[in-house]
Amino acid sequence: MTPDPMPPDDARPTPDDLALLTTGADYWSTRAFPGLGLRSLRMSDGPHGLRVQDDDNPDHLGLGRSLPATCFPPAVTLASTWDPDLVRSVGEALGREARARGVDVLLGPGIEIKRSPLCGRNFEYYSEDPLFTARMAGAMVQGIQSQGVAACLKHFACNTQETDRLRVSADVDERPLREIYLRGFELTIRDAGPWALMSAYNRINGLHASQNPWLLTEVLRREWGFDGLVVSDWGAVHDPVAALEAGLDLRMPGQPTDRRVHDALADGSLDASLIDRLAERLARLAERTAHGAGPIPIDEDAHHRLTRRAASQGAVLLHNDANLLPIDPRRCGRVAVIGELARTPRYQGAGSSAVNPTRVITAWDALQQRLTGAASVTFAPGYRLTAGTSDDDLGTEAVTLAGTSDLVVLFLGLPAAYEAEGRDRTTIELPSEQVALVRAVAAANPRVVVALSNGSAVSTAAWRNDVGAIVEFWLTGQAHGDSVADVLLGEVNPSGKLPETVPVRLEDTSSYLDFPGEAGHVRHGEGIFVGYRWFDARRLEVDYPFGHGLSYTSFAYSDLAIAVRDADDPEALAISLTLTNTGRRPGAEVVQVYVGDRSGVLLMPEREIRGFAKVHLAPGASQRVEIPIRRADLEHYHPEVGWVFTGGPMEVGVGSSSRDIRLQATVEVPGHPVEIPLTVWSPLGDWLAHPVAGPALRALIDARGGITGRLGDLLSSEVSADSALGSPVASVTQFPGFPVSIEEAEEILDRL
Ligand code: BGC
Repeated sequence: MTPDPMPPDDARPTPDDLALLTTGADYWSTRAFPGLGLRSLRMSDGPHGLRVQDDDNPDHLGLGRSLPATCFPPAVTLASTWDPDLVRSVGEALGREARARGVDVLLGPGIEIKRSPLCGRNFEYYSEDPLFTARMAGAMVQGIQSQGVAACLKHFACNTQETDRLRVSADVDERPLREIYLRGFELTIRDAGPWALMSAYNRINGLHASQNPWLLTEVLRREWGFDGLVVSDWGAVHDPVAALEAGLDLRMPGQPTDRRVHDALADGSLDASLIDRLAERLARLAERTAHGAGPIPIDEDAHHRLTRRAASQGAVLLHNDANLLPIDPRRCGRVAVIGELARTPRYQGAGSSAVNPTRVITAWDALQQRLTGAASVTFAPGYRLTAGTSDDDLGTEAVTLAGTSDLVVLFLGLPAAYEAEGRDRTTIELPSEQVALVRAVAAANPRVVVALSNGSAVSTAAWRNDVGAIVEFWLTGQAHGDSVADVLLGEVNPSGKLPETVPVRLEDTSSYLDFPGEAGHVRHGEGIFVGYRWFDARRLEVDYPFGHGLSYTSFAYSDLAIAVRDADDPEALAISLTLTNTGRRPGAEVVQVYVGDRSGVLLMPEREIRGFAKVHLAPGASQRVEIPIRRADLEHYHPEVGWVFTGGPMEVGVGSSSRDIRLQATVEVPGHPVEIPLTVWSPLGDWLAHPVAGPALRALIDARGGITGRLGDLLSSEVSADSALGSPVASVTQFPGFPVSIEEAEEILDRL
């Protein structure tokens, strides 16, 4: 595609030029405008590797035809490391590759909350928890931006499903919107300062996210102070004038022939100062991403090694009851490697984030090379990866091999067609042929290790107890085979933890009855009870809880101390404890701090993750671990007054997962009490309890002989008093026998 000719340096912008500023010059870049001091800015997908289109072949439809780049593990795997420093290193590497390709804006990270395990893009997102998401995504943003490349948080907001994603309305009440779905964006902006943000395709409470003034101006700019560029998702703008007025900056991809902005500027119906503001934001972005000395060299080997490390750190040891892991490569007898995924790895997801990797290592190759002492290493595919195809012969061959082996390493997971951008799953089970295979293989051999490859949670409940060990590798990126072998053979002691709950049944999930919605709407009726907040509130059994992940060593927790700070200290709590590696291998544990707010001021979750630390310890070593908890991170969103932390009893639990709490204490924490403004719609009981309005109302009532009639009767009985005290003043004033009028109540309010 040839961009429109650039205006000369000294050109004064015409209405045409100004209108052209509001959209891309082509699929991936902004227009250069030397007269306004603006250079062209280049963007590229995606969150876990660059998808830069070949300049001779820039058509977006050619998803697979991008230039080779390192394929890092996607967000789900990076999140499972619970290691912000490692994620920052991956961000730095991504930033370097972006710079080397002349990319100014990297379109990621994606930080949607995983509302349902069915969302086809869950592999691109971090977690079901907003604070945890922000910690990990913030590290990614800092890493990318440390190289002078803008990170672009996406998709703002509530793009939590793929079904009908271009038009569905996420219908969400304000508390869950603020506390769950916007919070990750808010905290990442607060802590990491991304220079760009992408608005989502979907609608929120009926209004398209790209044309939503409350979202893009009121909340994002005014409340959060975001000073970066807001880019639309590709094709998400339907009314470009309304989008600009709502606060969107750049419509992508370029739509230079659309005259609507031009016409609105020409007839004065669109305020031209919006374009000045856009020019300023483009200039700021150009300055932030100014690369100086031109392209930089890339060390592909180093990036490949980083991919390998990140993926092995993100592996989650779900189950190791029979202690089959780690495998000793020198003494493992006859090893059967079963599963097509060992030979045809699934190491990334499909869609706009798909990367053309610089190299790929399969697990079959890596295991053959590294099981040096095995009597034999034999492969059987066991199943096909084409959705819905089963082949009895493949199954029989695999089971026979299992029966004559000393150890089976069984590769299972989701074929690419199961989860992808634009497509949600309908089940959380593995394909039925794989479930049949694992059962048959386990019946033939008691020593089965399962290695899972999938981008979103799969339930293992139906077959977990048949096998000796399960490792969730998620999607590993291009070093797949080496990362997998590193963990299975114990060169890396697994320390990954689940950033999302693995449910037993889909029917147990909070969005089960409302995903993916109907007739263009998806009602988020579960409110704030998403992920573990839901499973804990409902006391539901889970396959594996949020935060779960085992190790080849063991850890002991002791000596919890909690220092409580003053109400005005930005730090609310300082948690400390002693962690000891009680096993025989070096290893890392993620110490997790959960807080259950028992103030009673709002409906509260049982517990919420408020801090964590990844600690590496030699065998036998102990360390004092300190985890500060910020006051702002303890706040909840009160629909009437906004963010509050009232203080009160807080149940602090420290442990190895959300359901493996090792140390616990309840502390009284000072805060700022909520003052809900009194109105005529406040209950009579609140009025009477109010320090100023109460005495004023009571004086009027007493002066007029008290409350009589039905209300008087209700108030004088222990059984029915609550019915009167719970009624709004606007209602009780309608009853004969209540001696004060609504106008008099309003006068009292005026005097407050
Ligand atoms: C996706 C975005 C992506 C964009 C550009 C859209 O369809 O939703 O995540 O960045 O395409 O490829």
